[in-house]
Amino acid sequence: MTLVMMSILVVILGYGGAQVSKGVLSAGTLVAIIFLMFQIIMPFAQMAQVFTIFQKAVGATERIQQILGMDSERAEGVATVPDGSIKFESVGFSYESGKEVLEGVSFQAKPGTVTAFVGPSGGGKTTIFSLIERFYLPTVGEISIGGLPITDIALSDWRKRIGYVSQESPLLSGTILDNIAYGLEVRPSMEEVRKAAEAANALQFIEEMADGFETLVGERGMKLSGGQRQRIAIARALLHNPEILLLDEATSNLDSGSETHVQEALQRLMEGRTTLIIAHRLSTVVDADQLIFLEAGRITGIGTHEELLESHPLYREFAEGQGLS
Ligand SMILES: Nc1ncnc2c1ncn2[C@@H]1O[C@H](COP(=O)(O)OP(=O)(O)OP(=O)(O)O)[C@@H](O)[C@H]1O
Ligand SMILES: [Mg+2]
Repeated sequence: MTLVMMSILVVILGYGGAQVSKGVLSAGTLVAIIFLMFQIIMPFAQMAQVFTIFQKAVGATERIQQILGMDSERAEGVATVPDGSIKFESVGFSYESGKEVLEGVSFQAKPGTVTAFVGPSGGGKTTIFSLIERFYLPTVGEISIGGLPITDIALSDWRKRIGYVSQESPLLSGTILDNIAYGLEVRPSMEEVRKAAEAANALQFIEEMADGFETLVGERGMKLSGGQRQRIAIARALLHNPEILLLDEATSNLDSGSETHVQEALQRLMEGRTTLIIAHRLSTVVDADQLIFLEAGRITGIGTHEELLESHPLYREFAEGQGLS
């Protein structure tokens, strides 16, 4: 468009200039013509812009429709999720073929209990959560709940049961309120949101912000600190009131003061739910009903804190390193 406009301008200047020098056209008229030309150019340039924006929107919508329409996102199944233990049976998984991330992982998480995963970084802890969420399917083995393979359950019903505080706790661009209430079918009342924020120890920092709950968090929540994002993610999980709770390093970005508060909130949140928790700081999980030690994709020890201290040398080393022996 710009090229066309510029060429027209050059032609007008050239031709008009010639006419002016011949005395056919006055210099004033030529200047007037050029000004009028600009008046016409502007709307044309804007039209071109609208067209560009429109094309972008079409592209983005197509992509969203494509994702929503994917077979895996619409997976049908029995509607009711049975109560019962989550069970992994010799589950193996690899992101890329040939590089096993999980191998022969078997364990059981009874309803209402806390199962903690510990172990060196890169051991496959977050991967286990991704498998429970059905972001990926195991390459071998089976994950079931109450004896029913989780793949038999409609995906949306299954995910509704799960509250997930992820390791990165990314937020969506929008207000704090949007981010806490996001994903619920009915918009919760302001009172409920405030209660959840308070229980997650987030109310104080939210109220200190100029716009409170209406504060815009920026793309991926970049205007908030890691700890603040984490507390918002916890508030969201509290509000969802899920039966299964997945917490991936949910207290890793907090100072020890806030950590105690959030720990309390989590304790309240975990009551009566099946909780799976990943923690690098063992102090947060010593009271768990069972600890699972995961090394390079294999389970090398299952037991309570005391049992693992006795039987698992690397766990003992971990605990000693954190002053817990
Ligand atoms: N999306 C992915 N694509 C390919 N490989 C991946 C992907 N996510 C993780 N991995 C690999 O899988 C292995 C296990 O990763 P995972 O995130 O489960 O570790 P983790 O135990 O949660 O570690 P950390 O304690 O550091 O969070 C790592 O070796 C990692 O490189
Ligand atoms: Mg992880």
